[in-house]
Amino acid sequence: MRTADRRKRTVKAGPQTISVLRLGHRPARDKRVTTHVALTARAFGGGAIFVSMKDVRLEATLRALVEKFGGPFQVRTGVRWQEVVRSWRGTIVHLTMYGEAIDDVLPRIPTGRDLLIVVGAEKVPRAMYDLATFNVAVGNQPHSEVAALAVFLDRYLKGRGLRRSFDGRIRVVPMAHGKVVETSK
Ligand SMILES: C[S@@+](CC[C@H](N)C(=O)[O-])C[C@H]1O[C@@H](n2cnc3c(N)ncnc32)[C@H](O)[C@@H]1O
Repeated sequence: MRTADRRKRTVKAGPQTISVLRLGHRPARDKRVTTHVALTARAFGGGAIFVSMKDVRLEATLRALVEKFGGPFQVRTGVRWQEVVRSWRGTIVHLTMYGEAIDDVLPRIPTGRDLLIVVGAEKVPRAMYDLATFNVAVGNQPHSEVAALAVFLDRYLKGRGLRRSFDGRIRVVPMAHGKVVETSK
């Protein structure tokens, strides 16, 4: 293969980033669910969450959690979702019950490219369905963005997200019975 051809086929070096974009967050109504979307993103292998509405309390809650239980995990609220989506240089997966079945589409989703996973709250703008690289259904029944995100990340990462270690001040010691945590720093 010629050097020029080889260069064209070069895939971006470095580790893949996985980010979640939460659309339609209403601070008063969705605080708890959006917090759970962020916690799920972090615990199942994601590295960042972007939220379409500014919410400083949500940011503070999540930063305090990361400070205690570890990261890396970034939080940005008040983003313009169209800008995030249009400038994304990687794969965009929109989780929606109207999409293609996860089992059918998963083999086509690249594993090495940066990944943006979009979840909604209320009605998702029509444009999102066109801007997504893949519209993915975790079953074709309505349920929850938290459930959809957890199942998608776990299947996509084949469980690796859950096995990730976090360098936090607090570490839970797994055990059959009881509750033990180790505290450091
Ligand atoms: C409570 S639902 C609201 C759905 C809303 N009726 C709509 O038209 O988009 C909130 C979010 O959960 C996610 N969701 C719910 N059911 C899903 C499913 N079966 N597969 C994938 N994602 C799902 C989607 O991201 C959706 O935007």
